[in-house]
Amino acid sequence: MTSKVSSGVSGLDSILKGGLPEGRVVLVLGEPGAGKTILSSQFLYHGATAAKERTLFVGMNEPKARFMTEMGEFGMDFAKLESEGTFSYVDATEIRRIPEQARVGRIPVGGKELGLVNLIDMIQEGVEKTKPKRIAVDSISDLIFRFPLIEDRRPVVLDLVETLQSSGATTLLTSELLSTGDERSLQPEEYLAEGVVLLRTLRKGVRAIQVPKMRGSEVDTAQRPYTIRGSGIEVYATEEVY
Ligand SMILES: Nc1ncnc2c1ncn2[C@@H]1O[C@H](COP(=O)(O)OP(=O)(O)OP(=O)(O)O)[C@@H](O)[C@H]1O
Ligand SMILES: [Mg+2]
Repeated sequence: MTSKVSSGVSGLDSILKGGLPEGRVVLVLGEPGAGKTILSSQFLYHGATAAKERTLFVGMNEPKARFMTEMGEFGMDFAKLESEGTFSYVDATEIRRIPEQARVGRIPVGGKELGLVNLIDMIQEGVEKTKPKRIAVDSISDLIFRFPLIEDRRPVVLDLVETLQSSGATTLLTSELLSTGDERSLQPEEYLAEGVVLLRTLRKGVRAIQVPKMRGSEVDTAQRPYTIRGSGIEVYATEEVY
């Protein structure tokens, strides 16, 4: 059986019956504002503070300074961890700015493929430099939604998952949740990750977290309420959502 590591989110470990599978890639899918960045940060912060683990955040959405300020509001001092050597930030925001039609020298190349190659390069470089135990890549939606066809998107996600898997670190990979509701259609990336955590907003603004999939371990698959407060995300693992 794979060992488990704490997610750093109170209540989520109990849904996961102990925590996240060590060394595996778990996908966190959520609507905009659902808490994907906060959840990934809590996951890293916990490892770095509780166990002095080296951690790596690959940020596609915001540069380091903004990330640090925003997460600072939830009591997480990543600047301090960085100076202690347990946190590194890879700024991958430039990938979003690569146009659909890019050029290497004079040769036209597909911008989306270039974006993927760049991201994989950045992840590998960060991993080699810092040898992290925990990684968060937040978020891949801008990149992968450039591949609208499932047969094109599948190998892209697979490349990313395999790169992260081979690092040996426990990884959270965040992306946007496209369809909601009970009849929602599965996204191709869900098939390729070891596990999936869904963050959704239900009727009347109730936030619900759910783990529909976690290979090789028994989990609670029910929707459970969660809140975002000054201390970050809290999951109420024994409560029901209505
Ligand atoms: N001080 C706070 N207290 C309570 N809730 C807050 C506070 N600050 C932010 N939030 C909530 O946290 C959400 C942002 O969380 P986060 O940035 O992790 O979301 P996200 O899923 O990464 O969003 P995006 O898709 O835009 O990147 C906001 O939508 C807001 O509801
Ligand atoms: Mg975010």
